[in-house]
Amino acid sequence: MKHYTSIHDIDDINSWIEDAKALKSDPLKHVELGRNKTLGLLFFNSSLRTRLSTQKAALNLGMNPIVMNVSGDAWGIEFGDGTVMNGNTAEHIKEAAAVVSQYCDIIAVRAFPTLTDKAKDESEEVLNAFKAYASVPLVNMESATGHPLQGLTDAITISEHAKKARPKVVLSWAPHIKALPHAVANSFTQAMQKMDVDFVITNPKGYNLSPEIVGDTPVIHNQEEAFKDADFVYVKNWSSYEDYGEVLNTDPNWMITKEKLGDAKFMHCLPVRRNVIVEDAVLDSDSSIVIQQANNRTYAAQLVLKNILESNN
Ligand code: CP
Repeated sequence: MKHYTSIHDIDDINSWIEDAKALKSDPLKHVELGRNKTLGLLFFNSSLRTRLSTQKAALNLGMNPIVMNVSGDAWGIEFGDGTVMNGNTAEHIKEAAAVVSQYCDIIAVRAFPTLTDKAKDESEEVLNAFKAYASVPLVNMESATGHPLQGLTDAITISEHAKKARPKVVLSWAPHIKALPHAVANSFTQAMQKMDVDFVITNPKGYNLSPEIVGDTPVIHNQEEAFKDADFVYVKNWSSYEDYGEVLNTDPNWMITKEKLGDAKFMHCLPVRRNVIVEDAVLDSDSSIVIQQANNRTYAAQLVLKNILESNN
């Protein structure tokens, strides 16, 4: 594996889950693997979990992480080919990616979508430009359309907490005041499609994810019906895909309550807005496994870095 940019870079999710669990039980076992190797983390957007857990993962492998907030701290980067750079951008991605590759053995990038230009977002302009012009492996720390470190984390967490061979997993939309990306929901869907789970998606009409992502997964517009016999309820807001980037619905009846959740475990990638997405009574109960889920971010990232280091040695 050279790069990790999508859930599709996972060949066998069950073996990856077992490998991640093994790393979790002995995090420093491979501390020599990354000795004297540098991981560069480039953030075009905010982060708490990804920023810290990916650094922790690198440290567990003996790597040296270096971090940069690209938006604001770096020169404005130009991505267009042949652009006359007489505007706000001062450095082309061709030089920027090549230069960072001189300092780093692996580059990890976070770059969110515009949510105004579907074609541009689906082209994964920033991620693919780094892939094209960097000379070292690339890790996606959440791009316009995917968050594969989160998706792998979620698969590990479900495997750890499952009490039956084929649990029922529901991905539920919940209301939010702002337009949010589809990346987490997309990668979670792709991860669940690779696992042996009974997986359904529930969202209001007008909020179906990309048909390419949904594939054959059932989409139910009645949340109560979807939650019946659920073992895991994974909650996330996303803006409309059909009416690209629009907030069409903020109906509080889609918020997750203790009563709706029943005996299911509650999952969310975080950060989460309390009493908008989910009520306090859920997050403050044993039904919520969001902290355990966030802990697994380290081992998902560590497995990805380990696989890249081993493949590129
Ligand atoms: N879940 C997640 O990616 O969290 P951050 O945005 O804080 O990194």
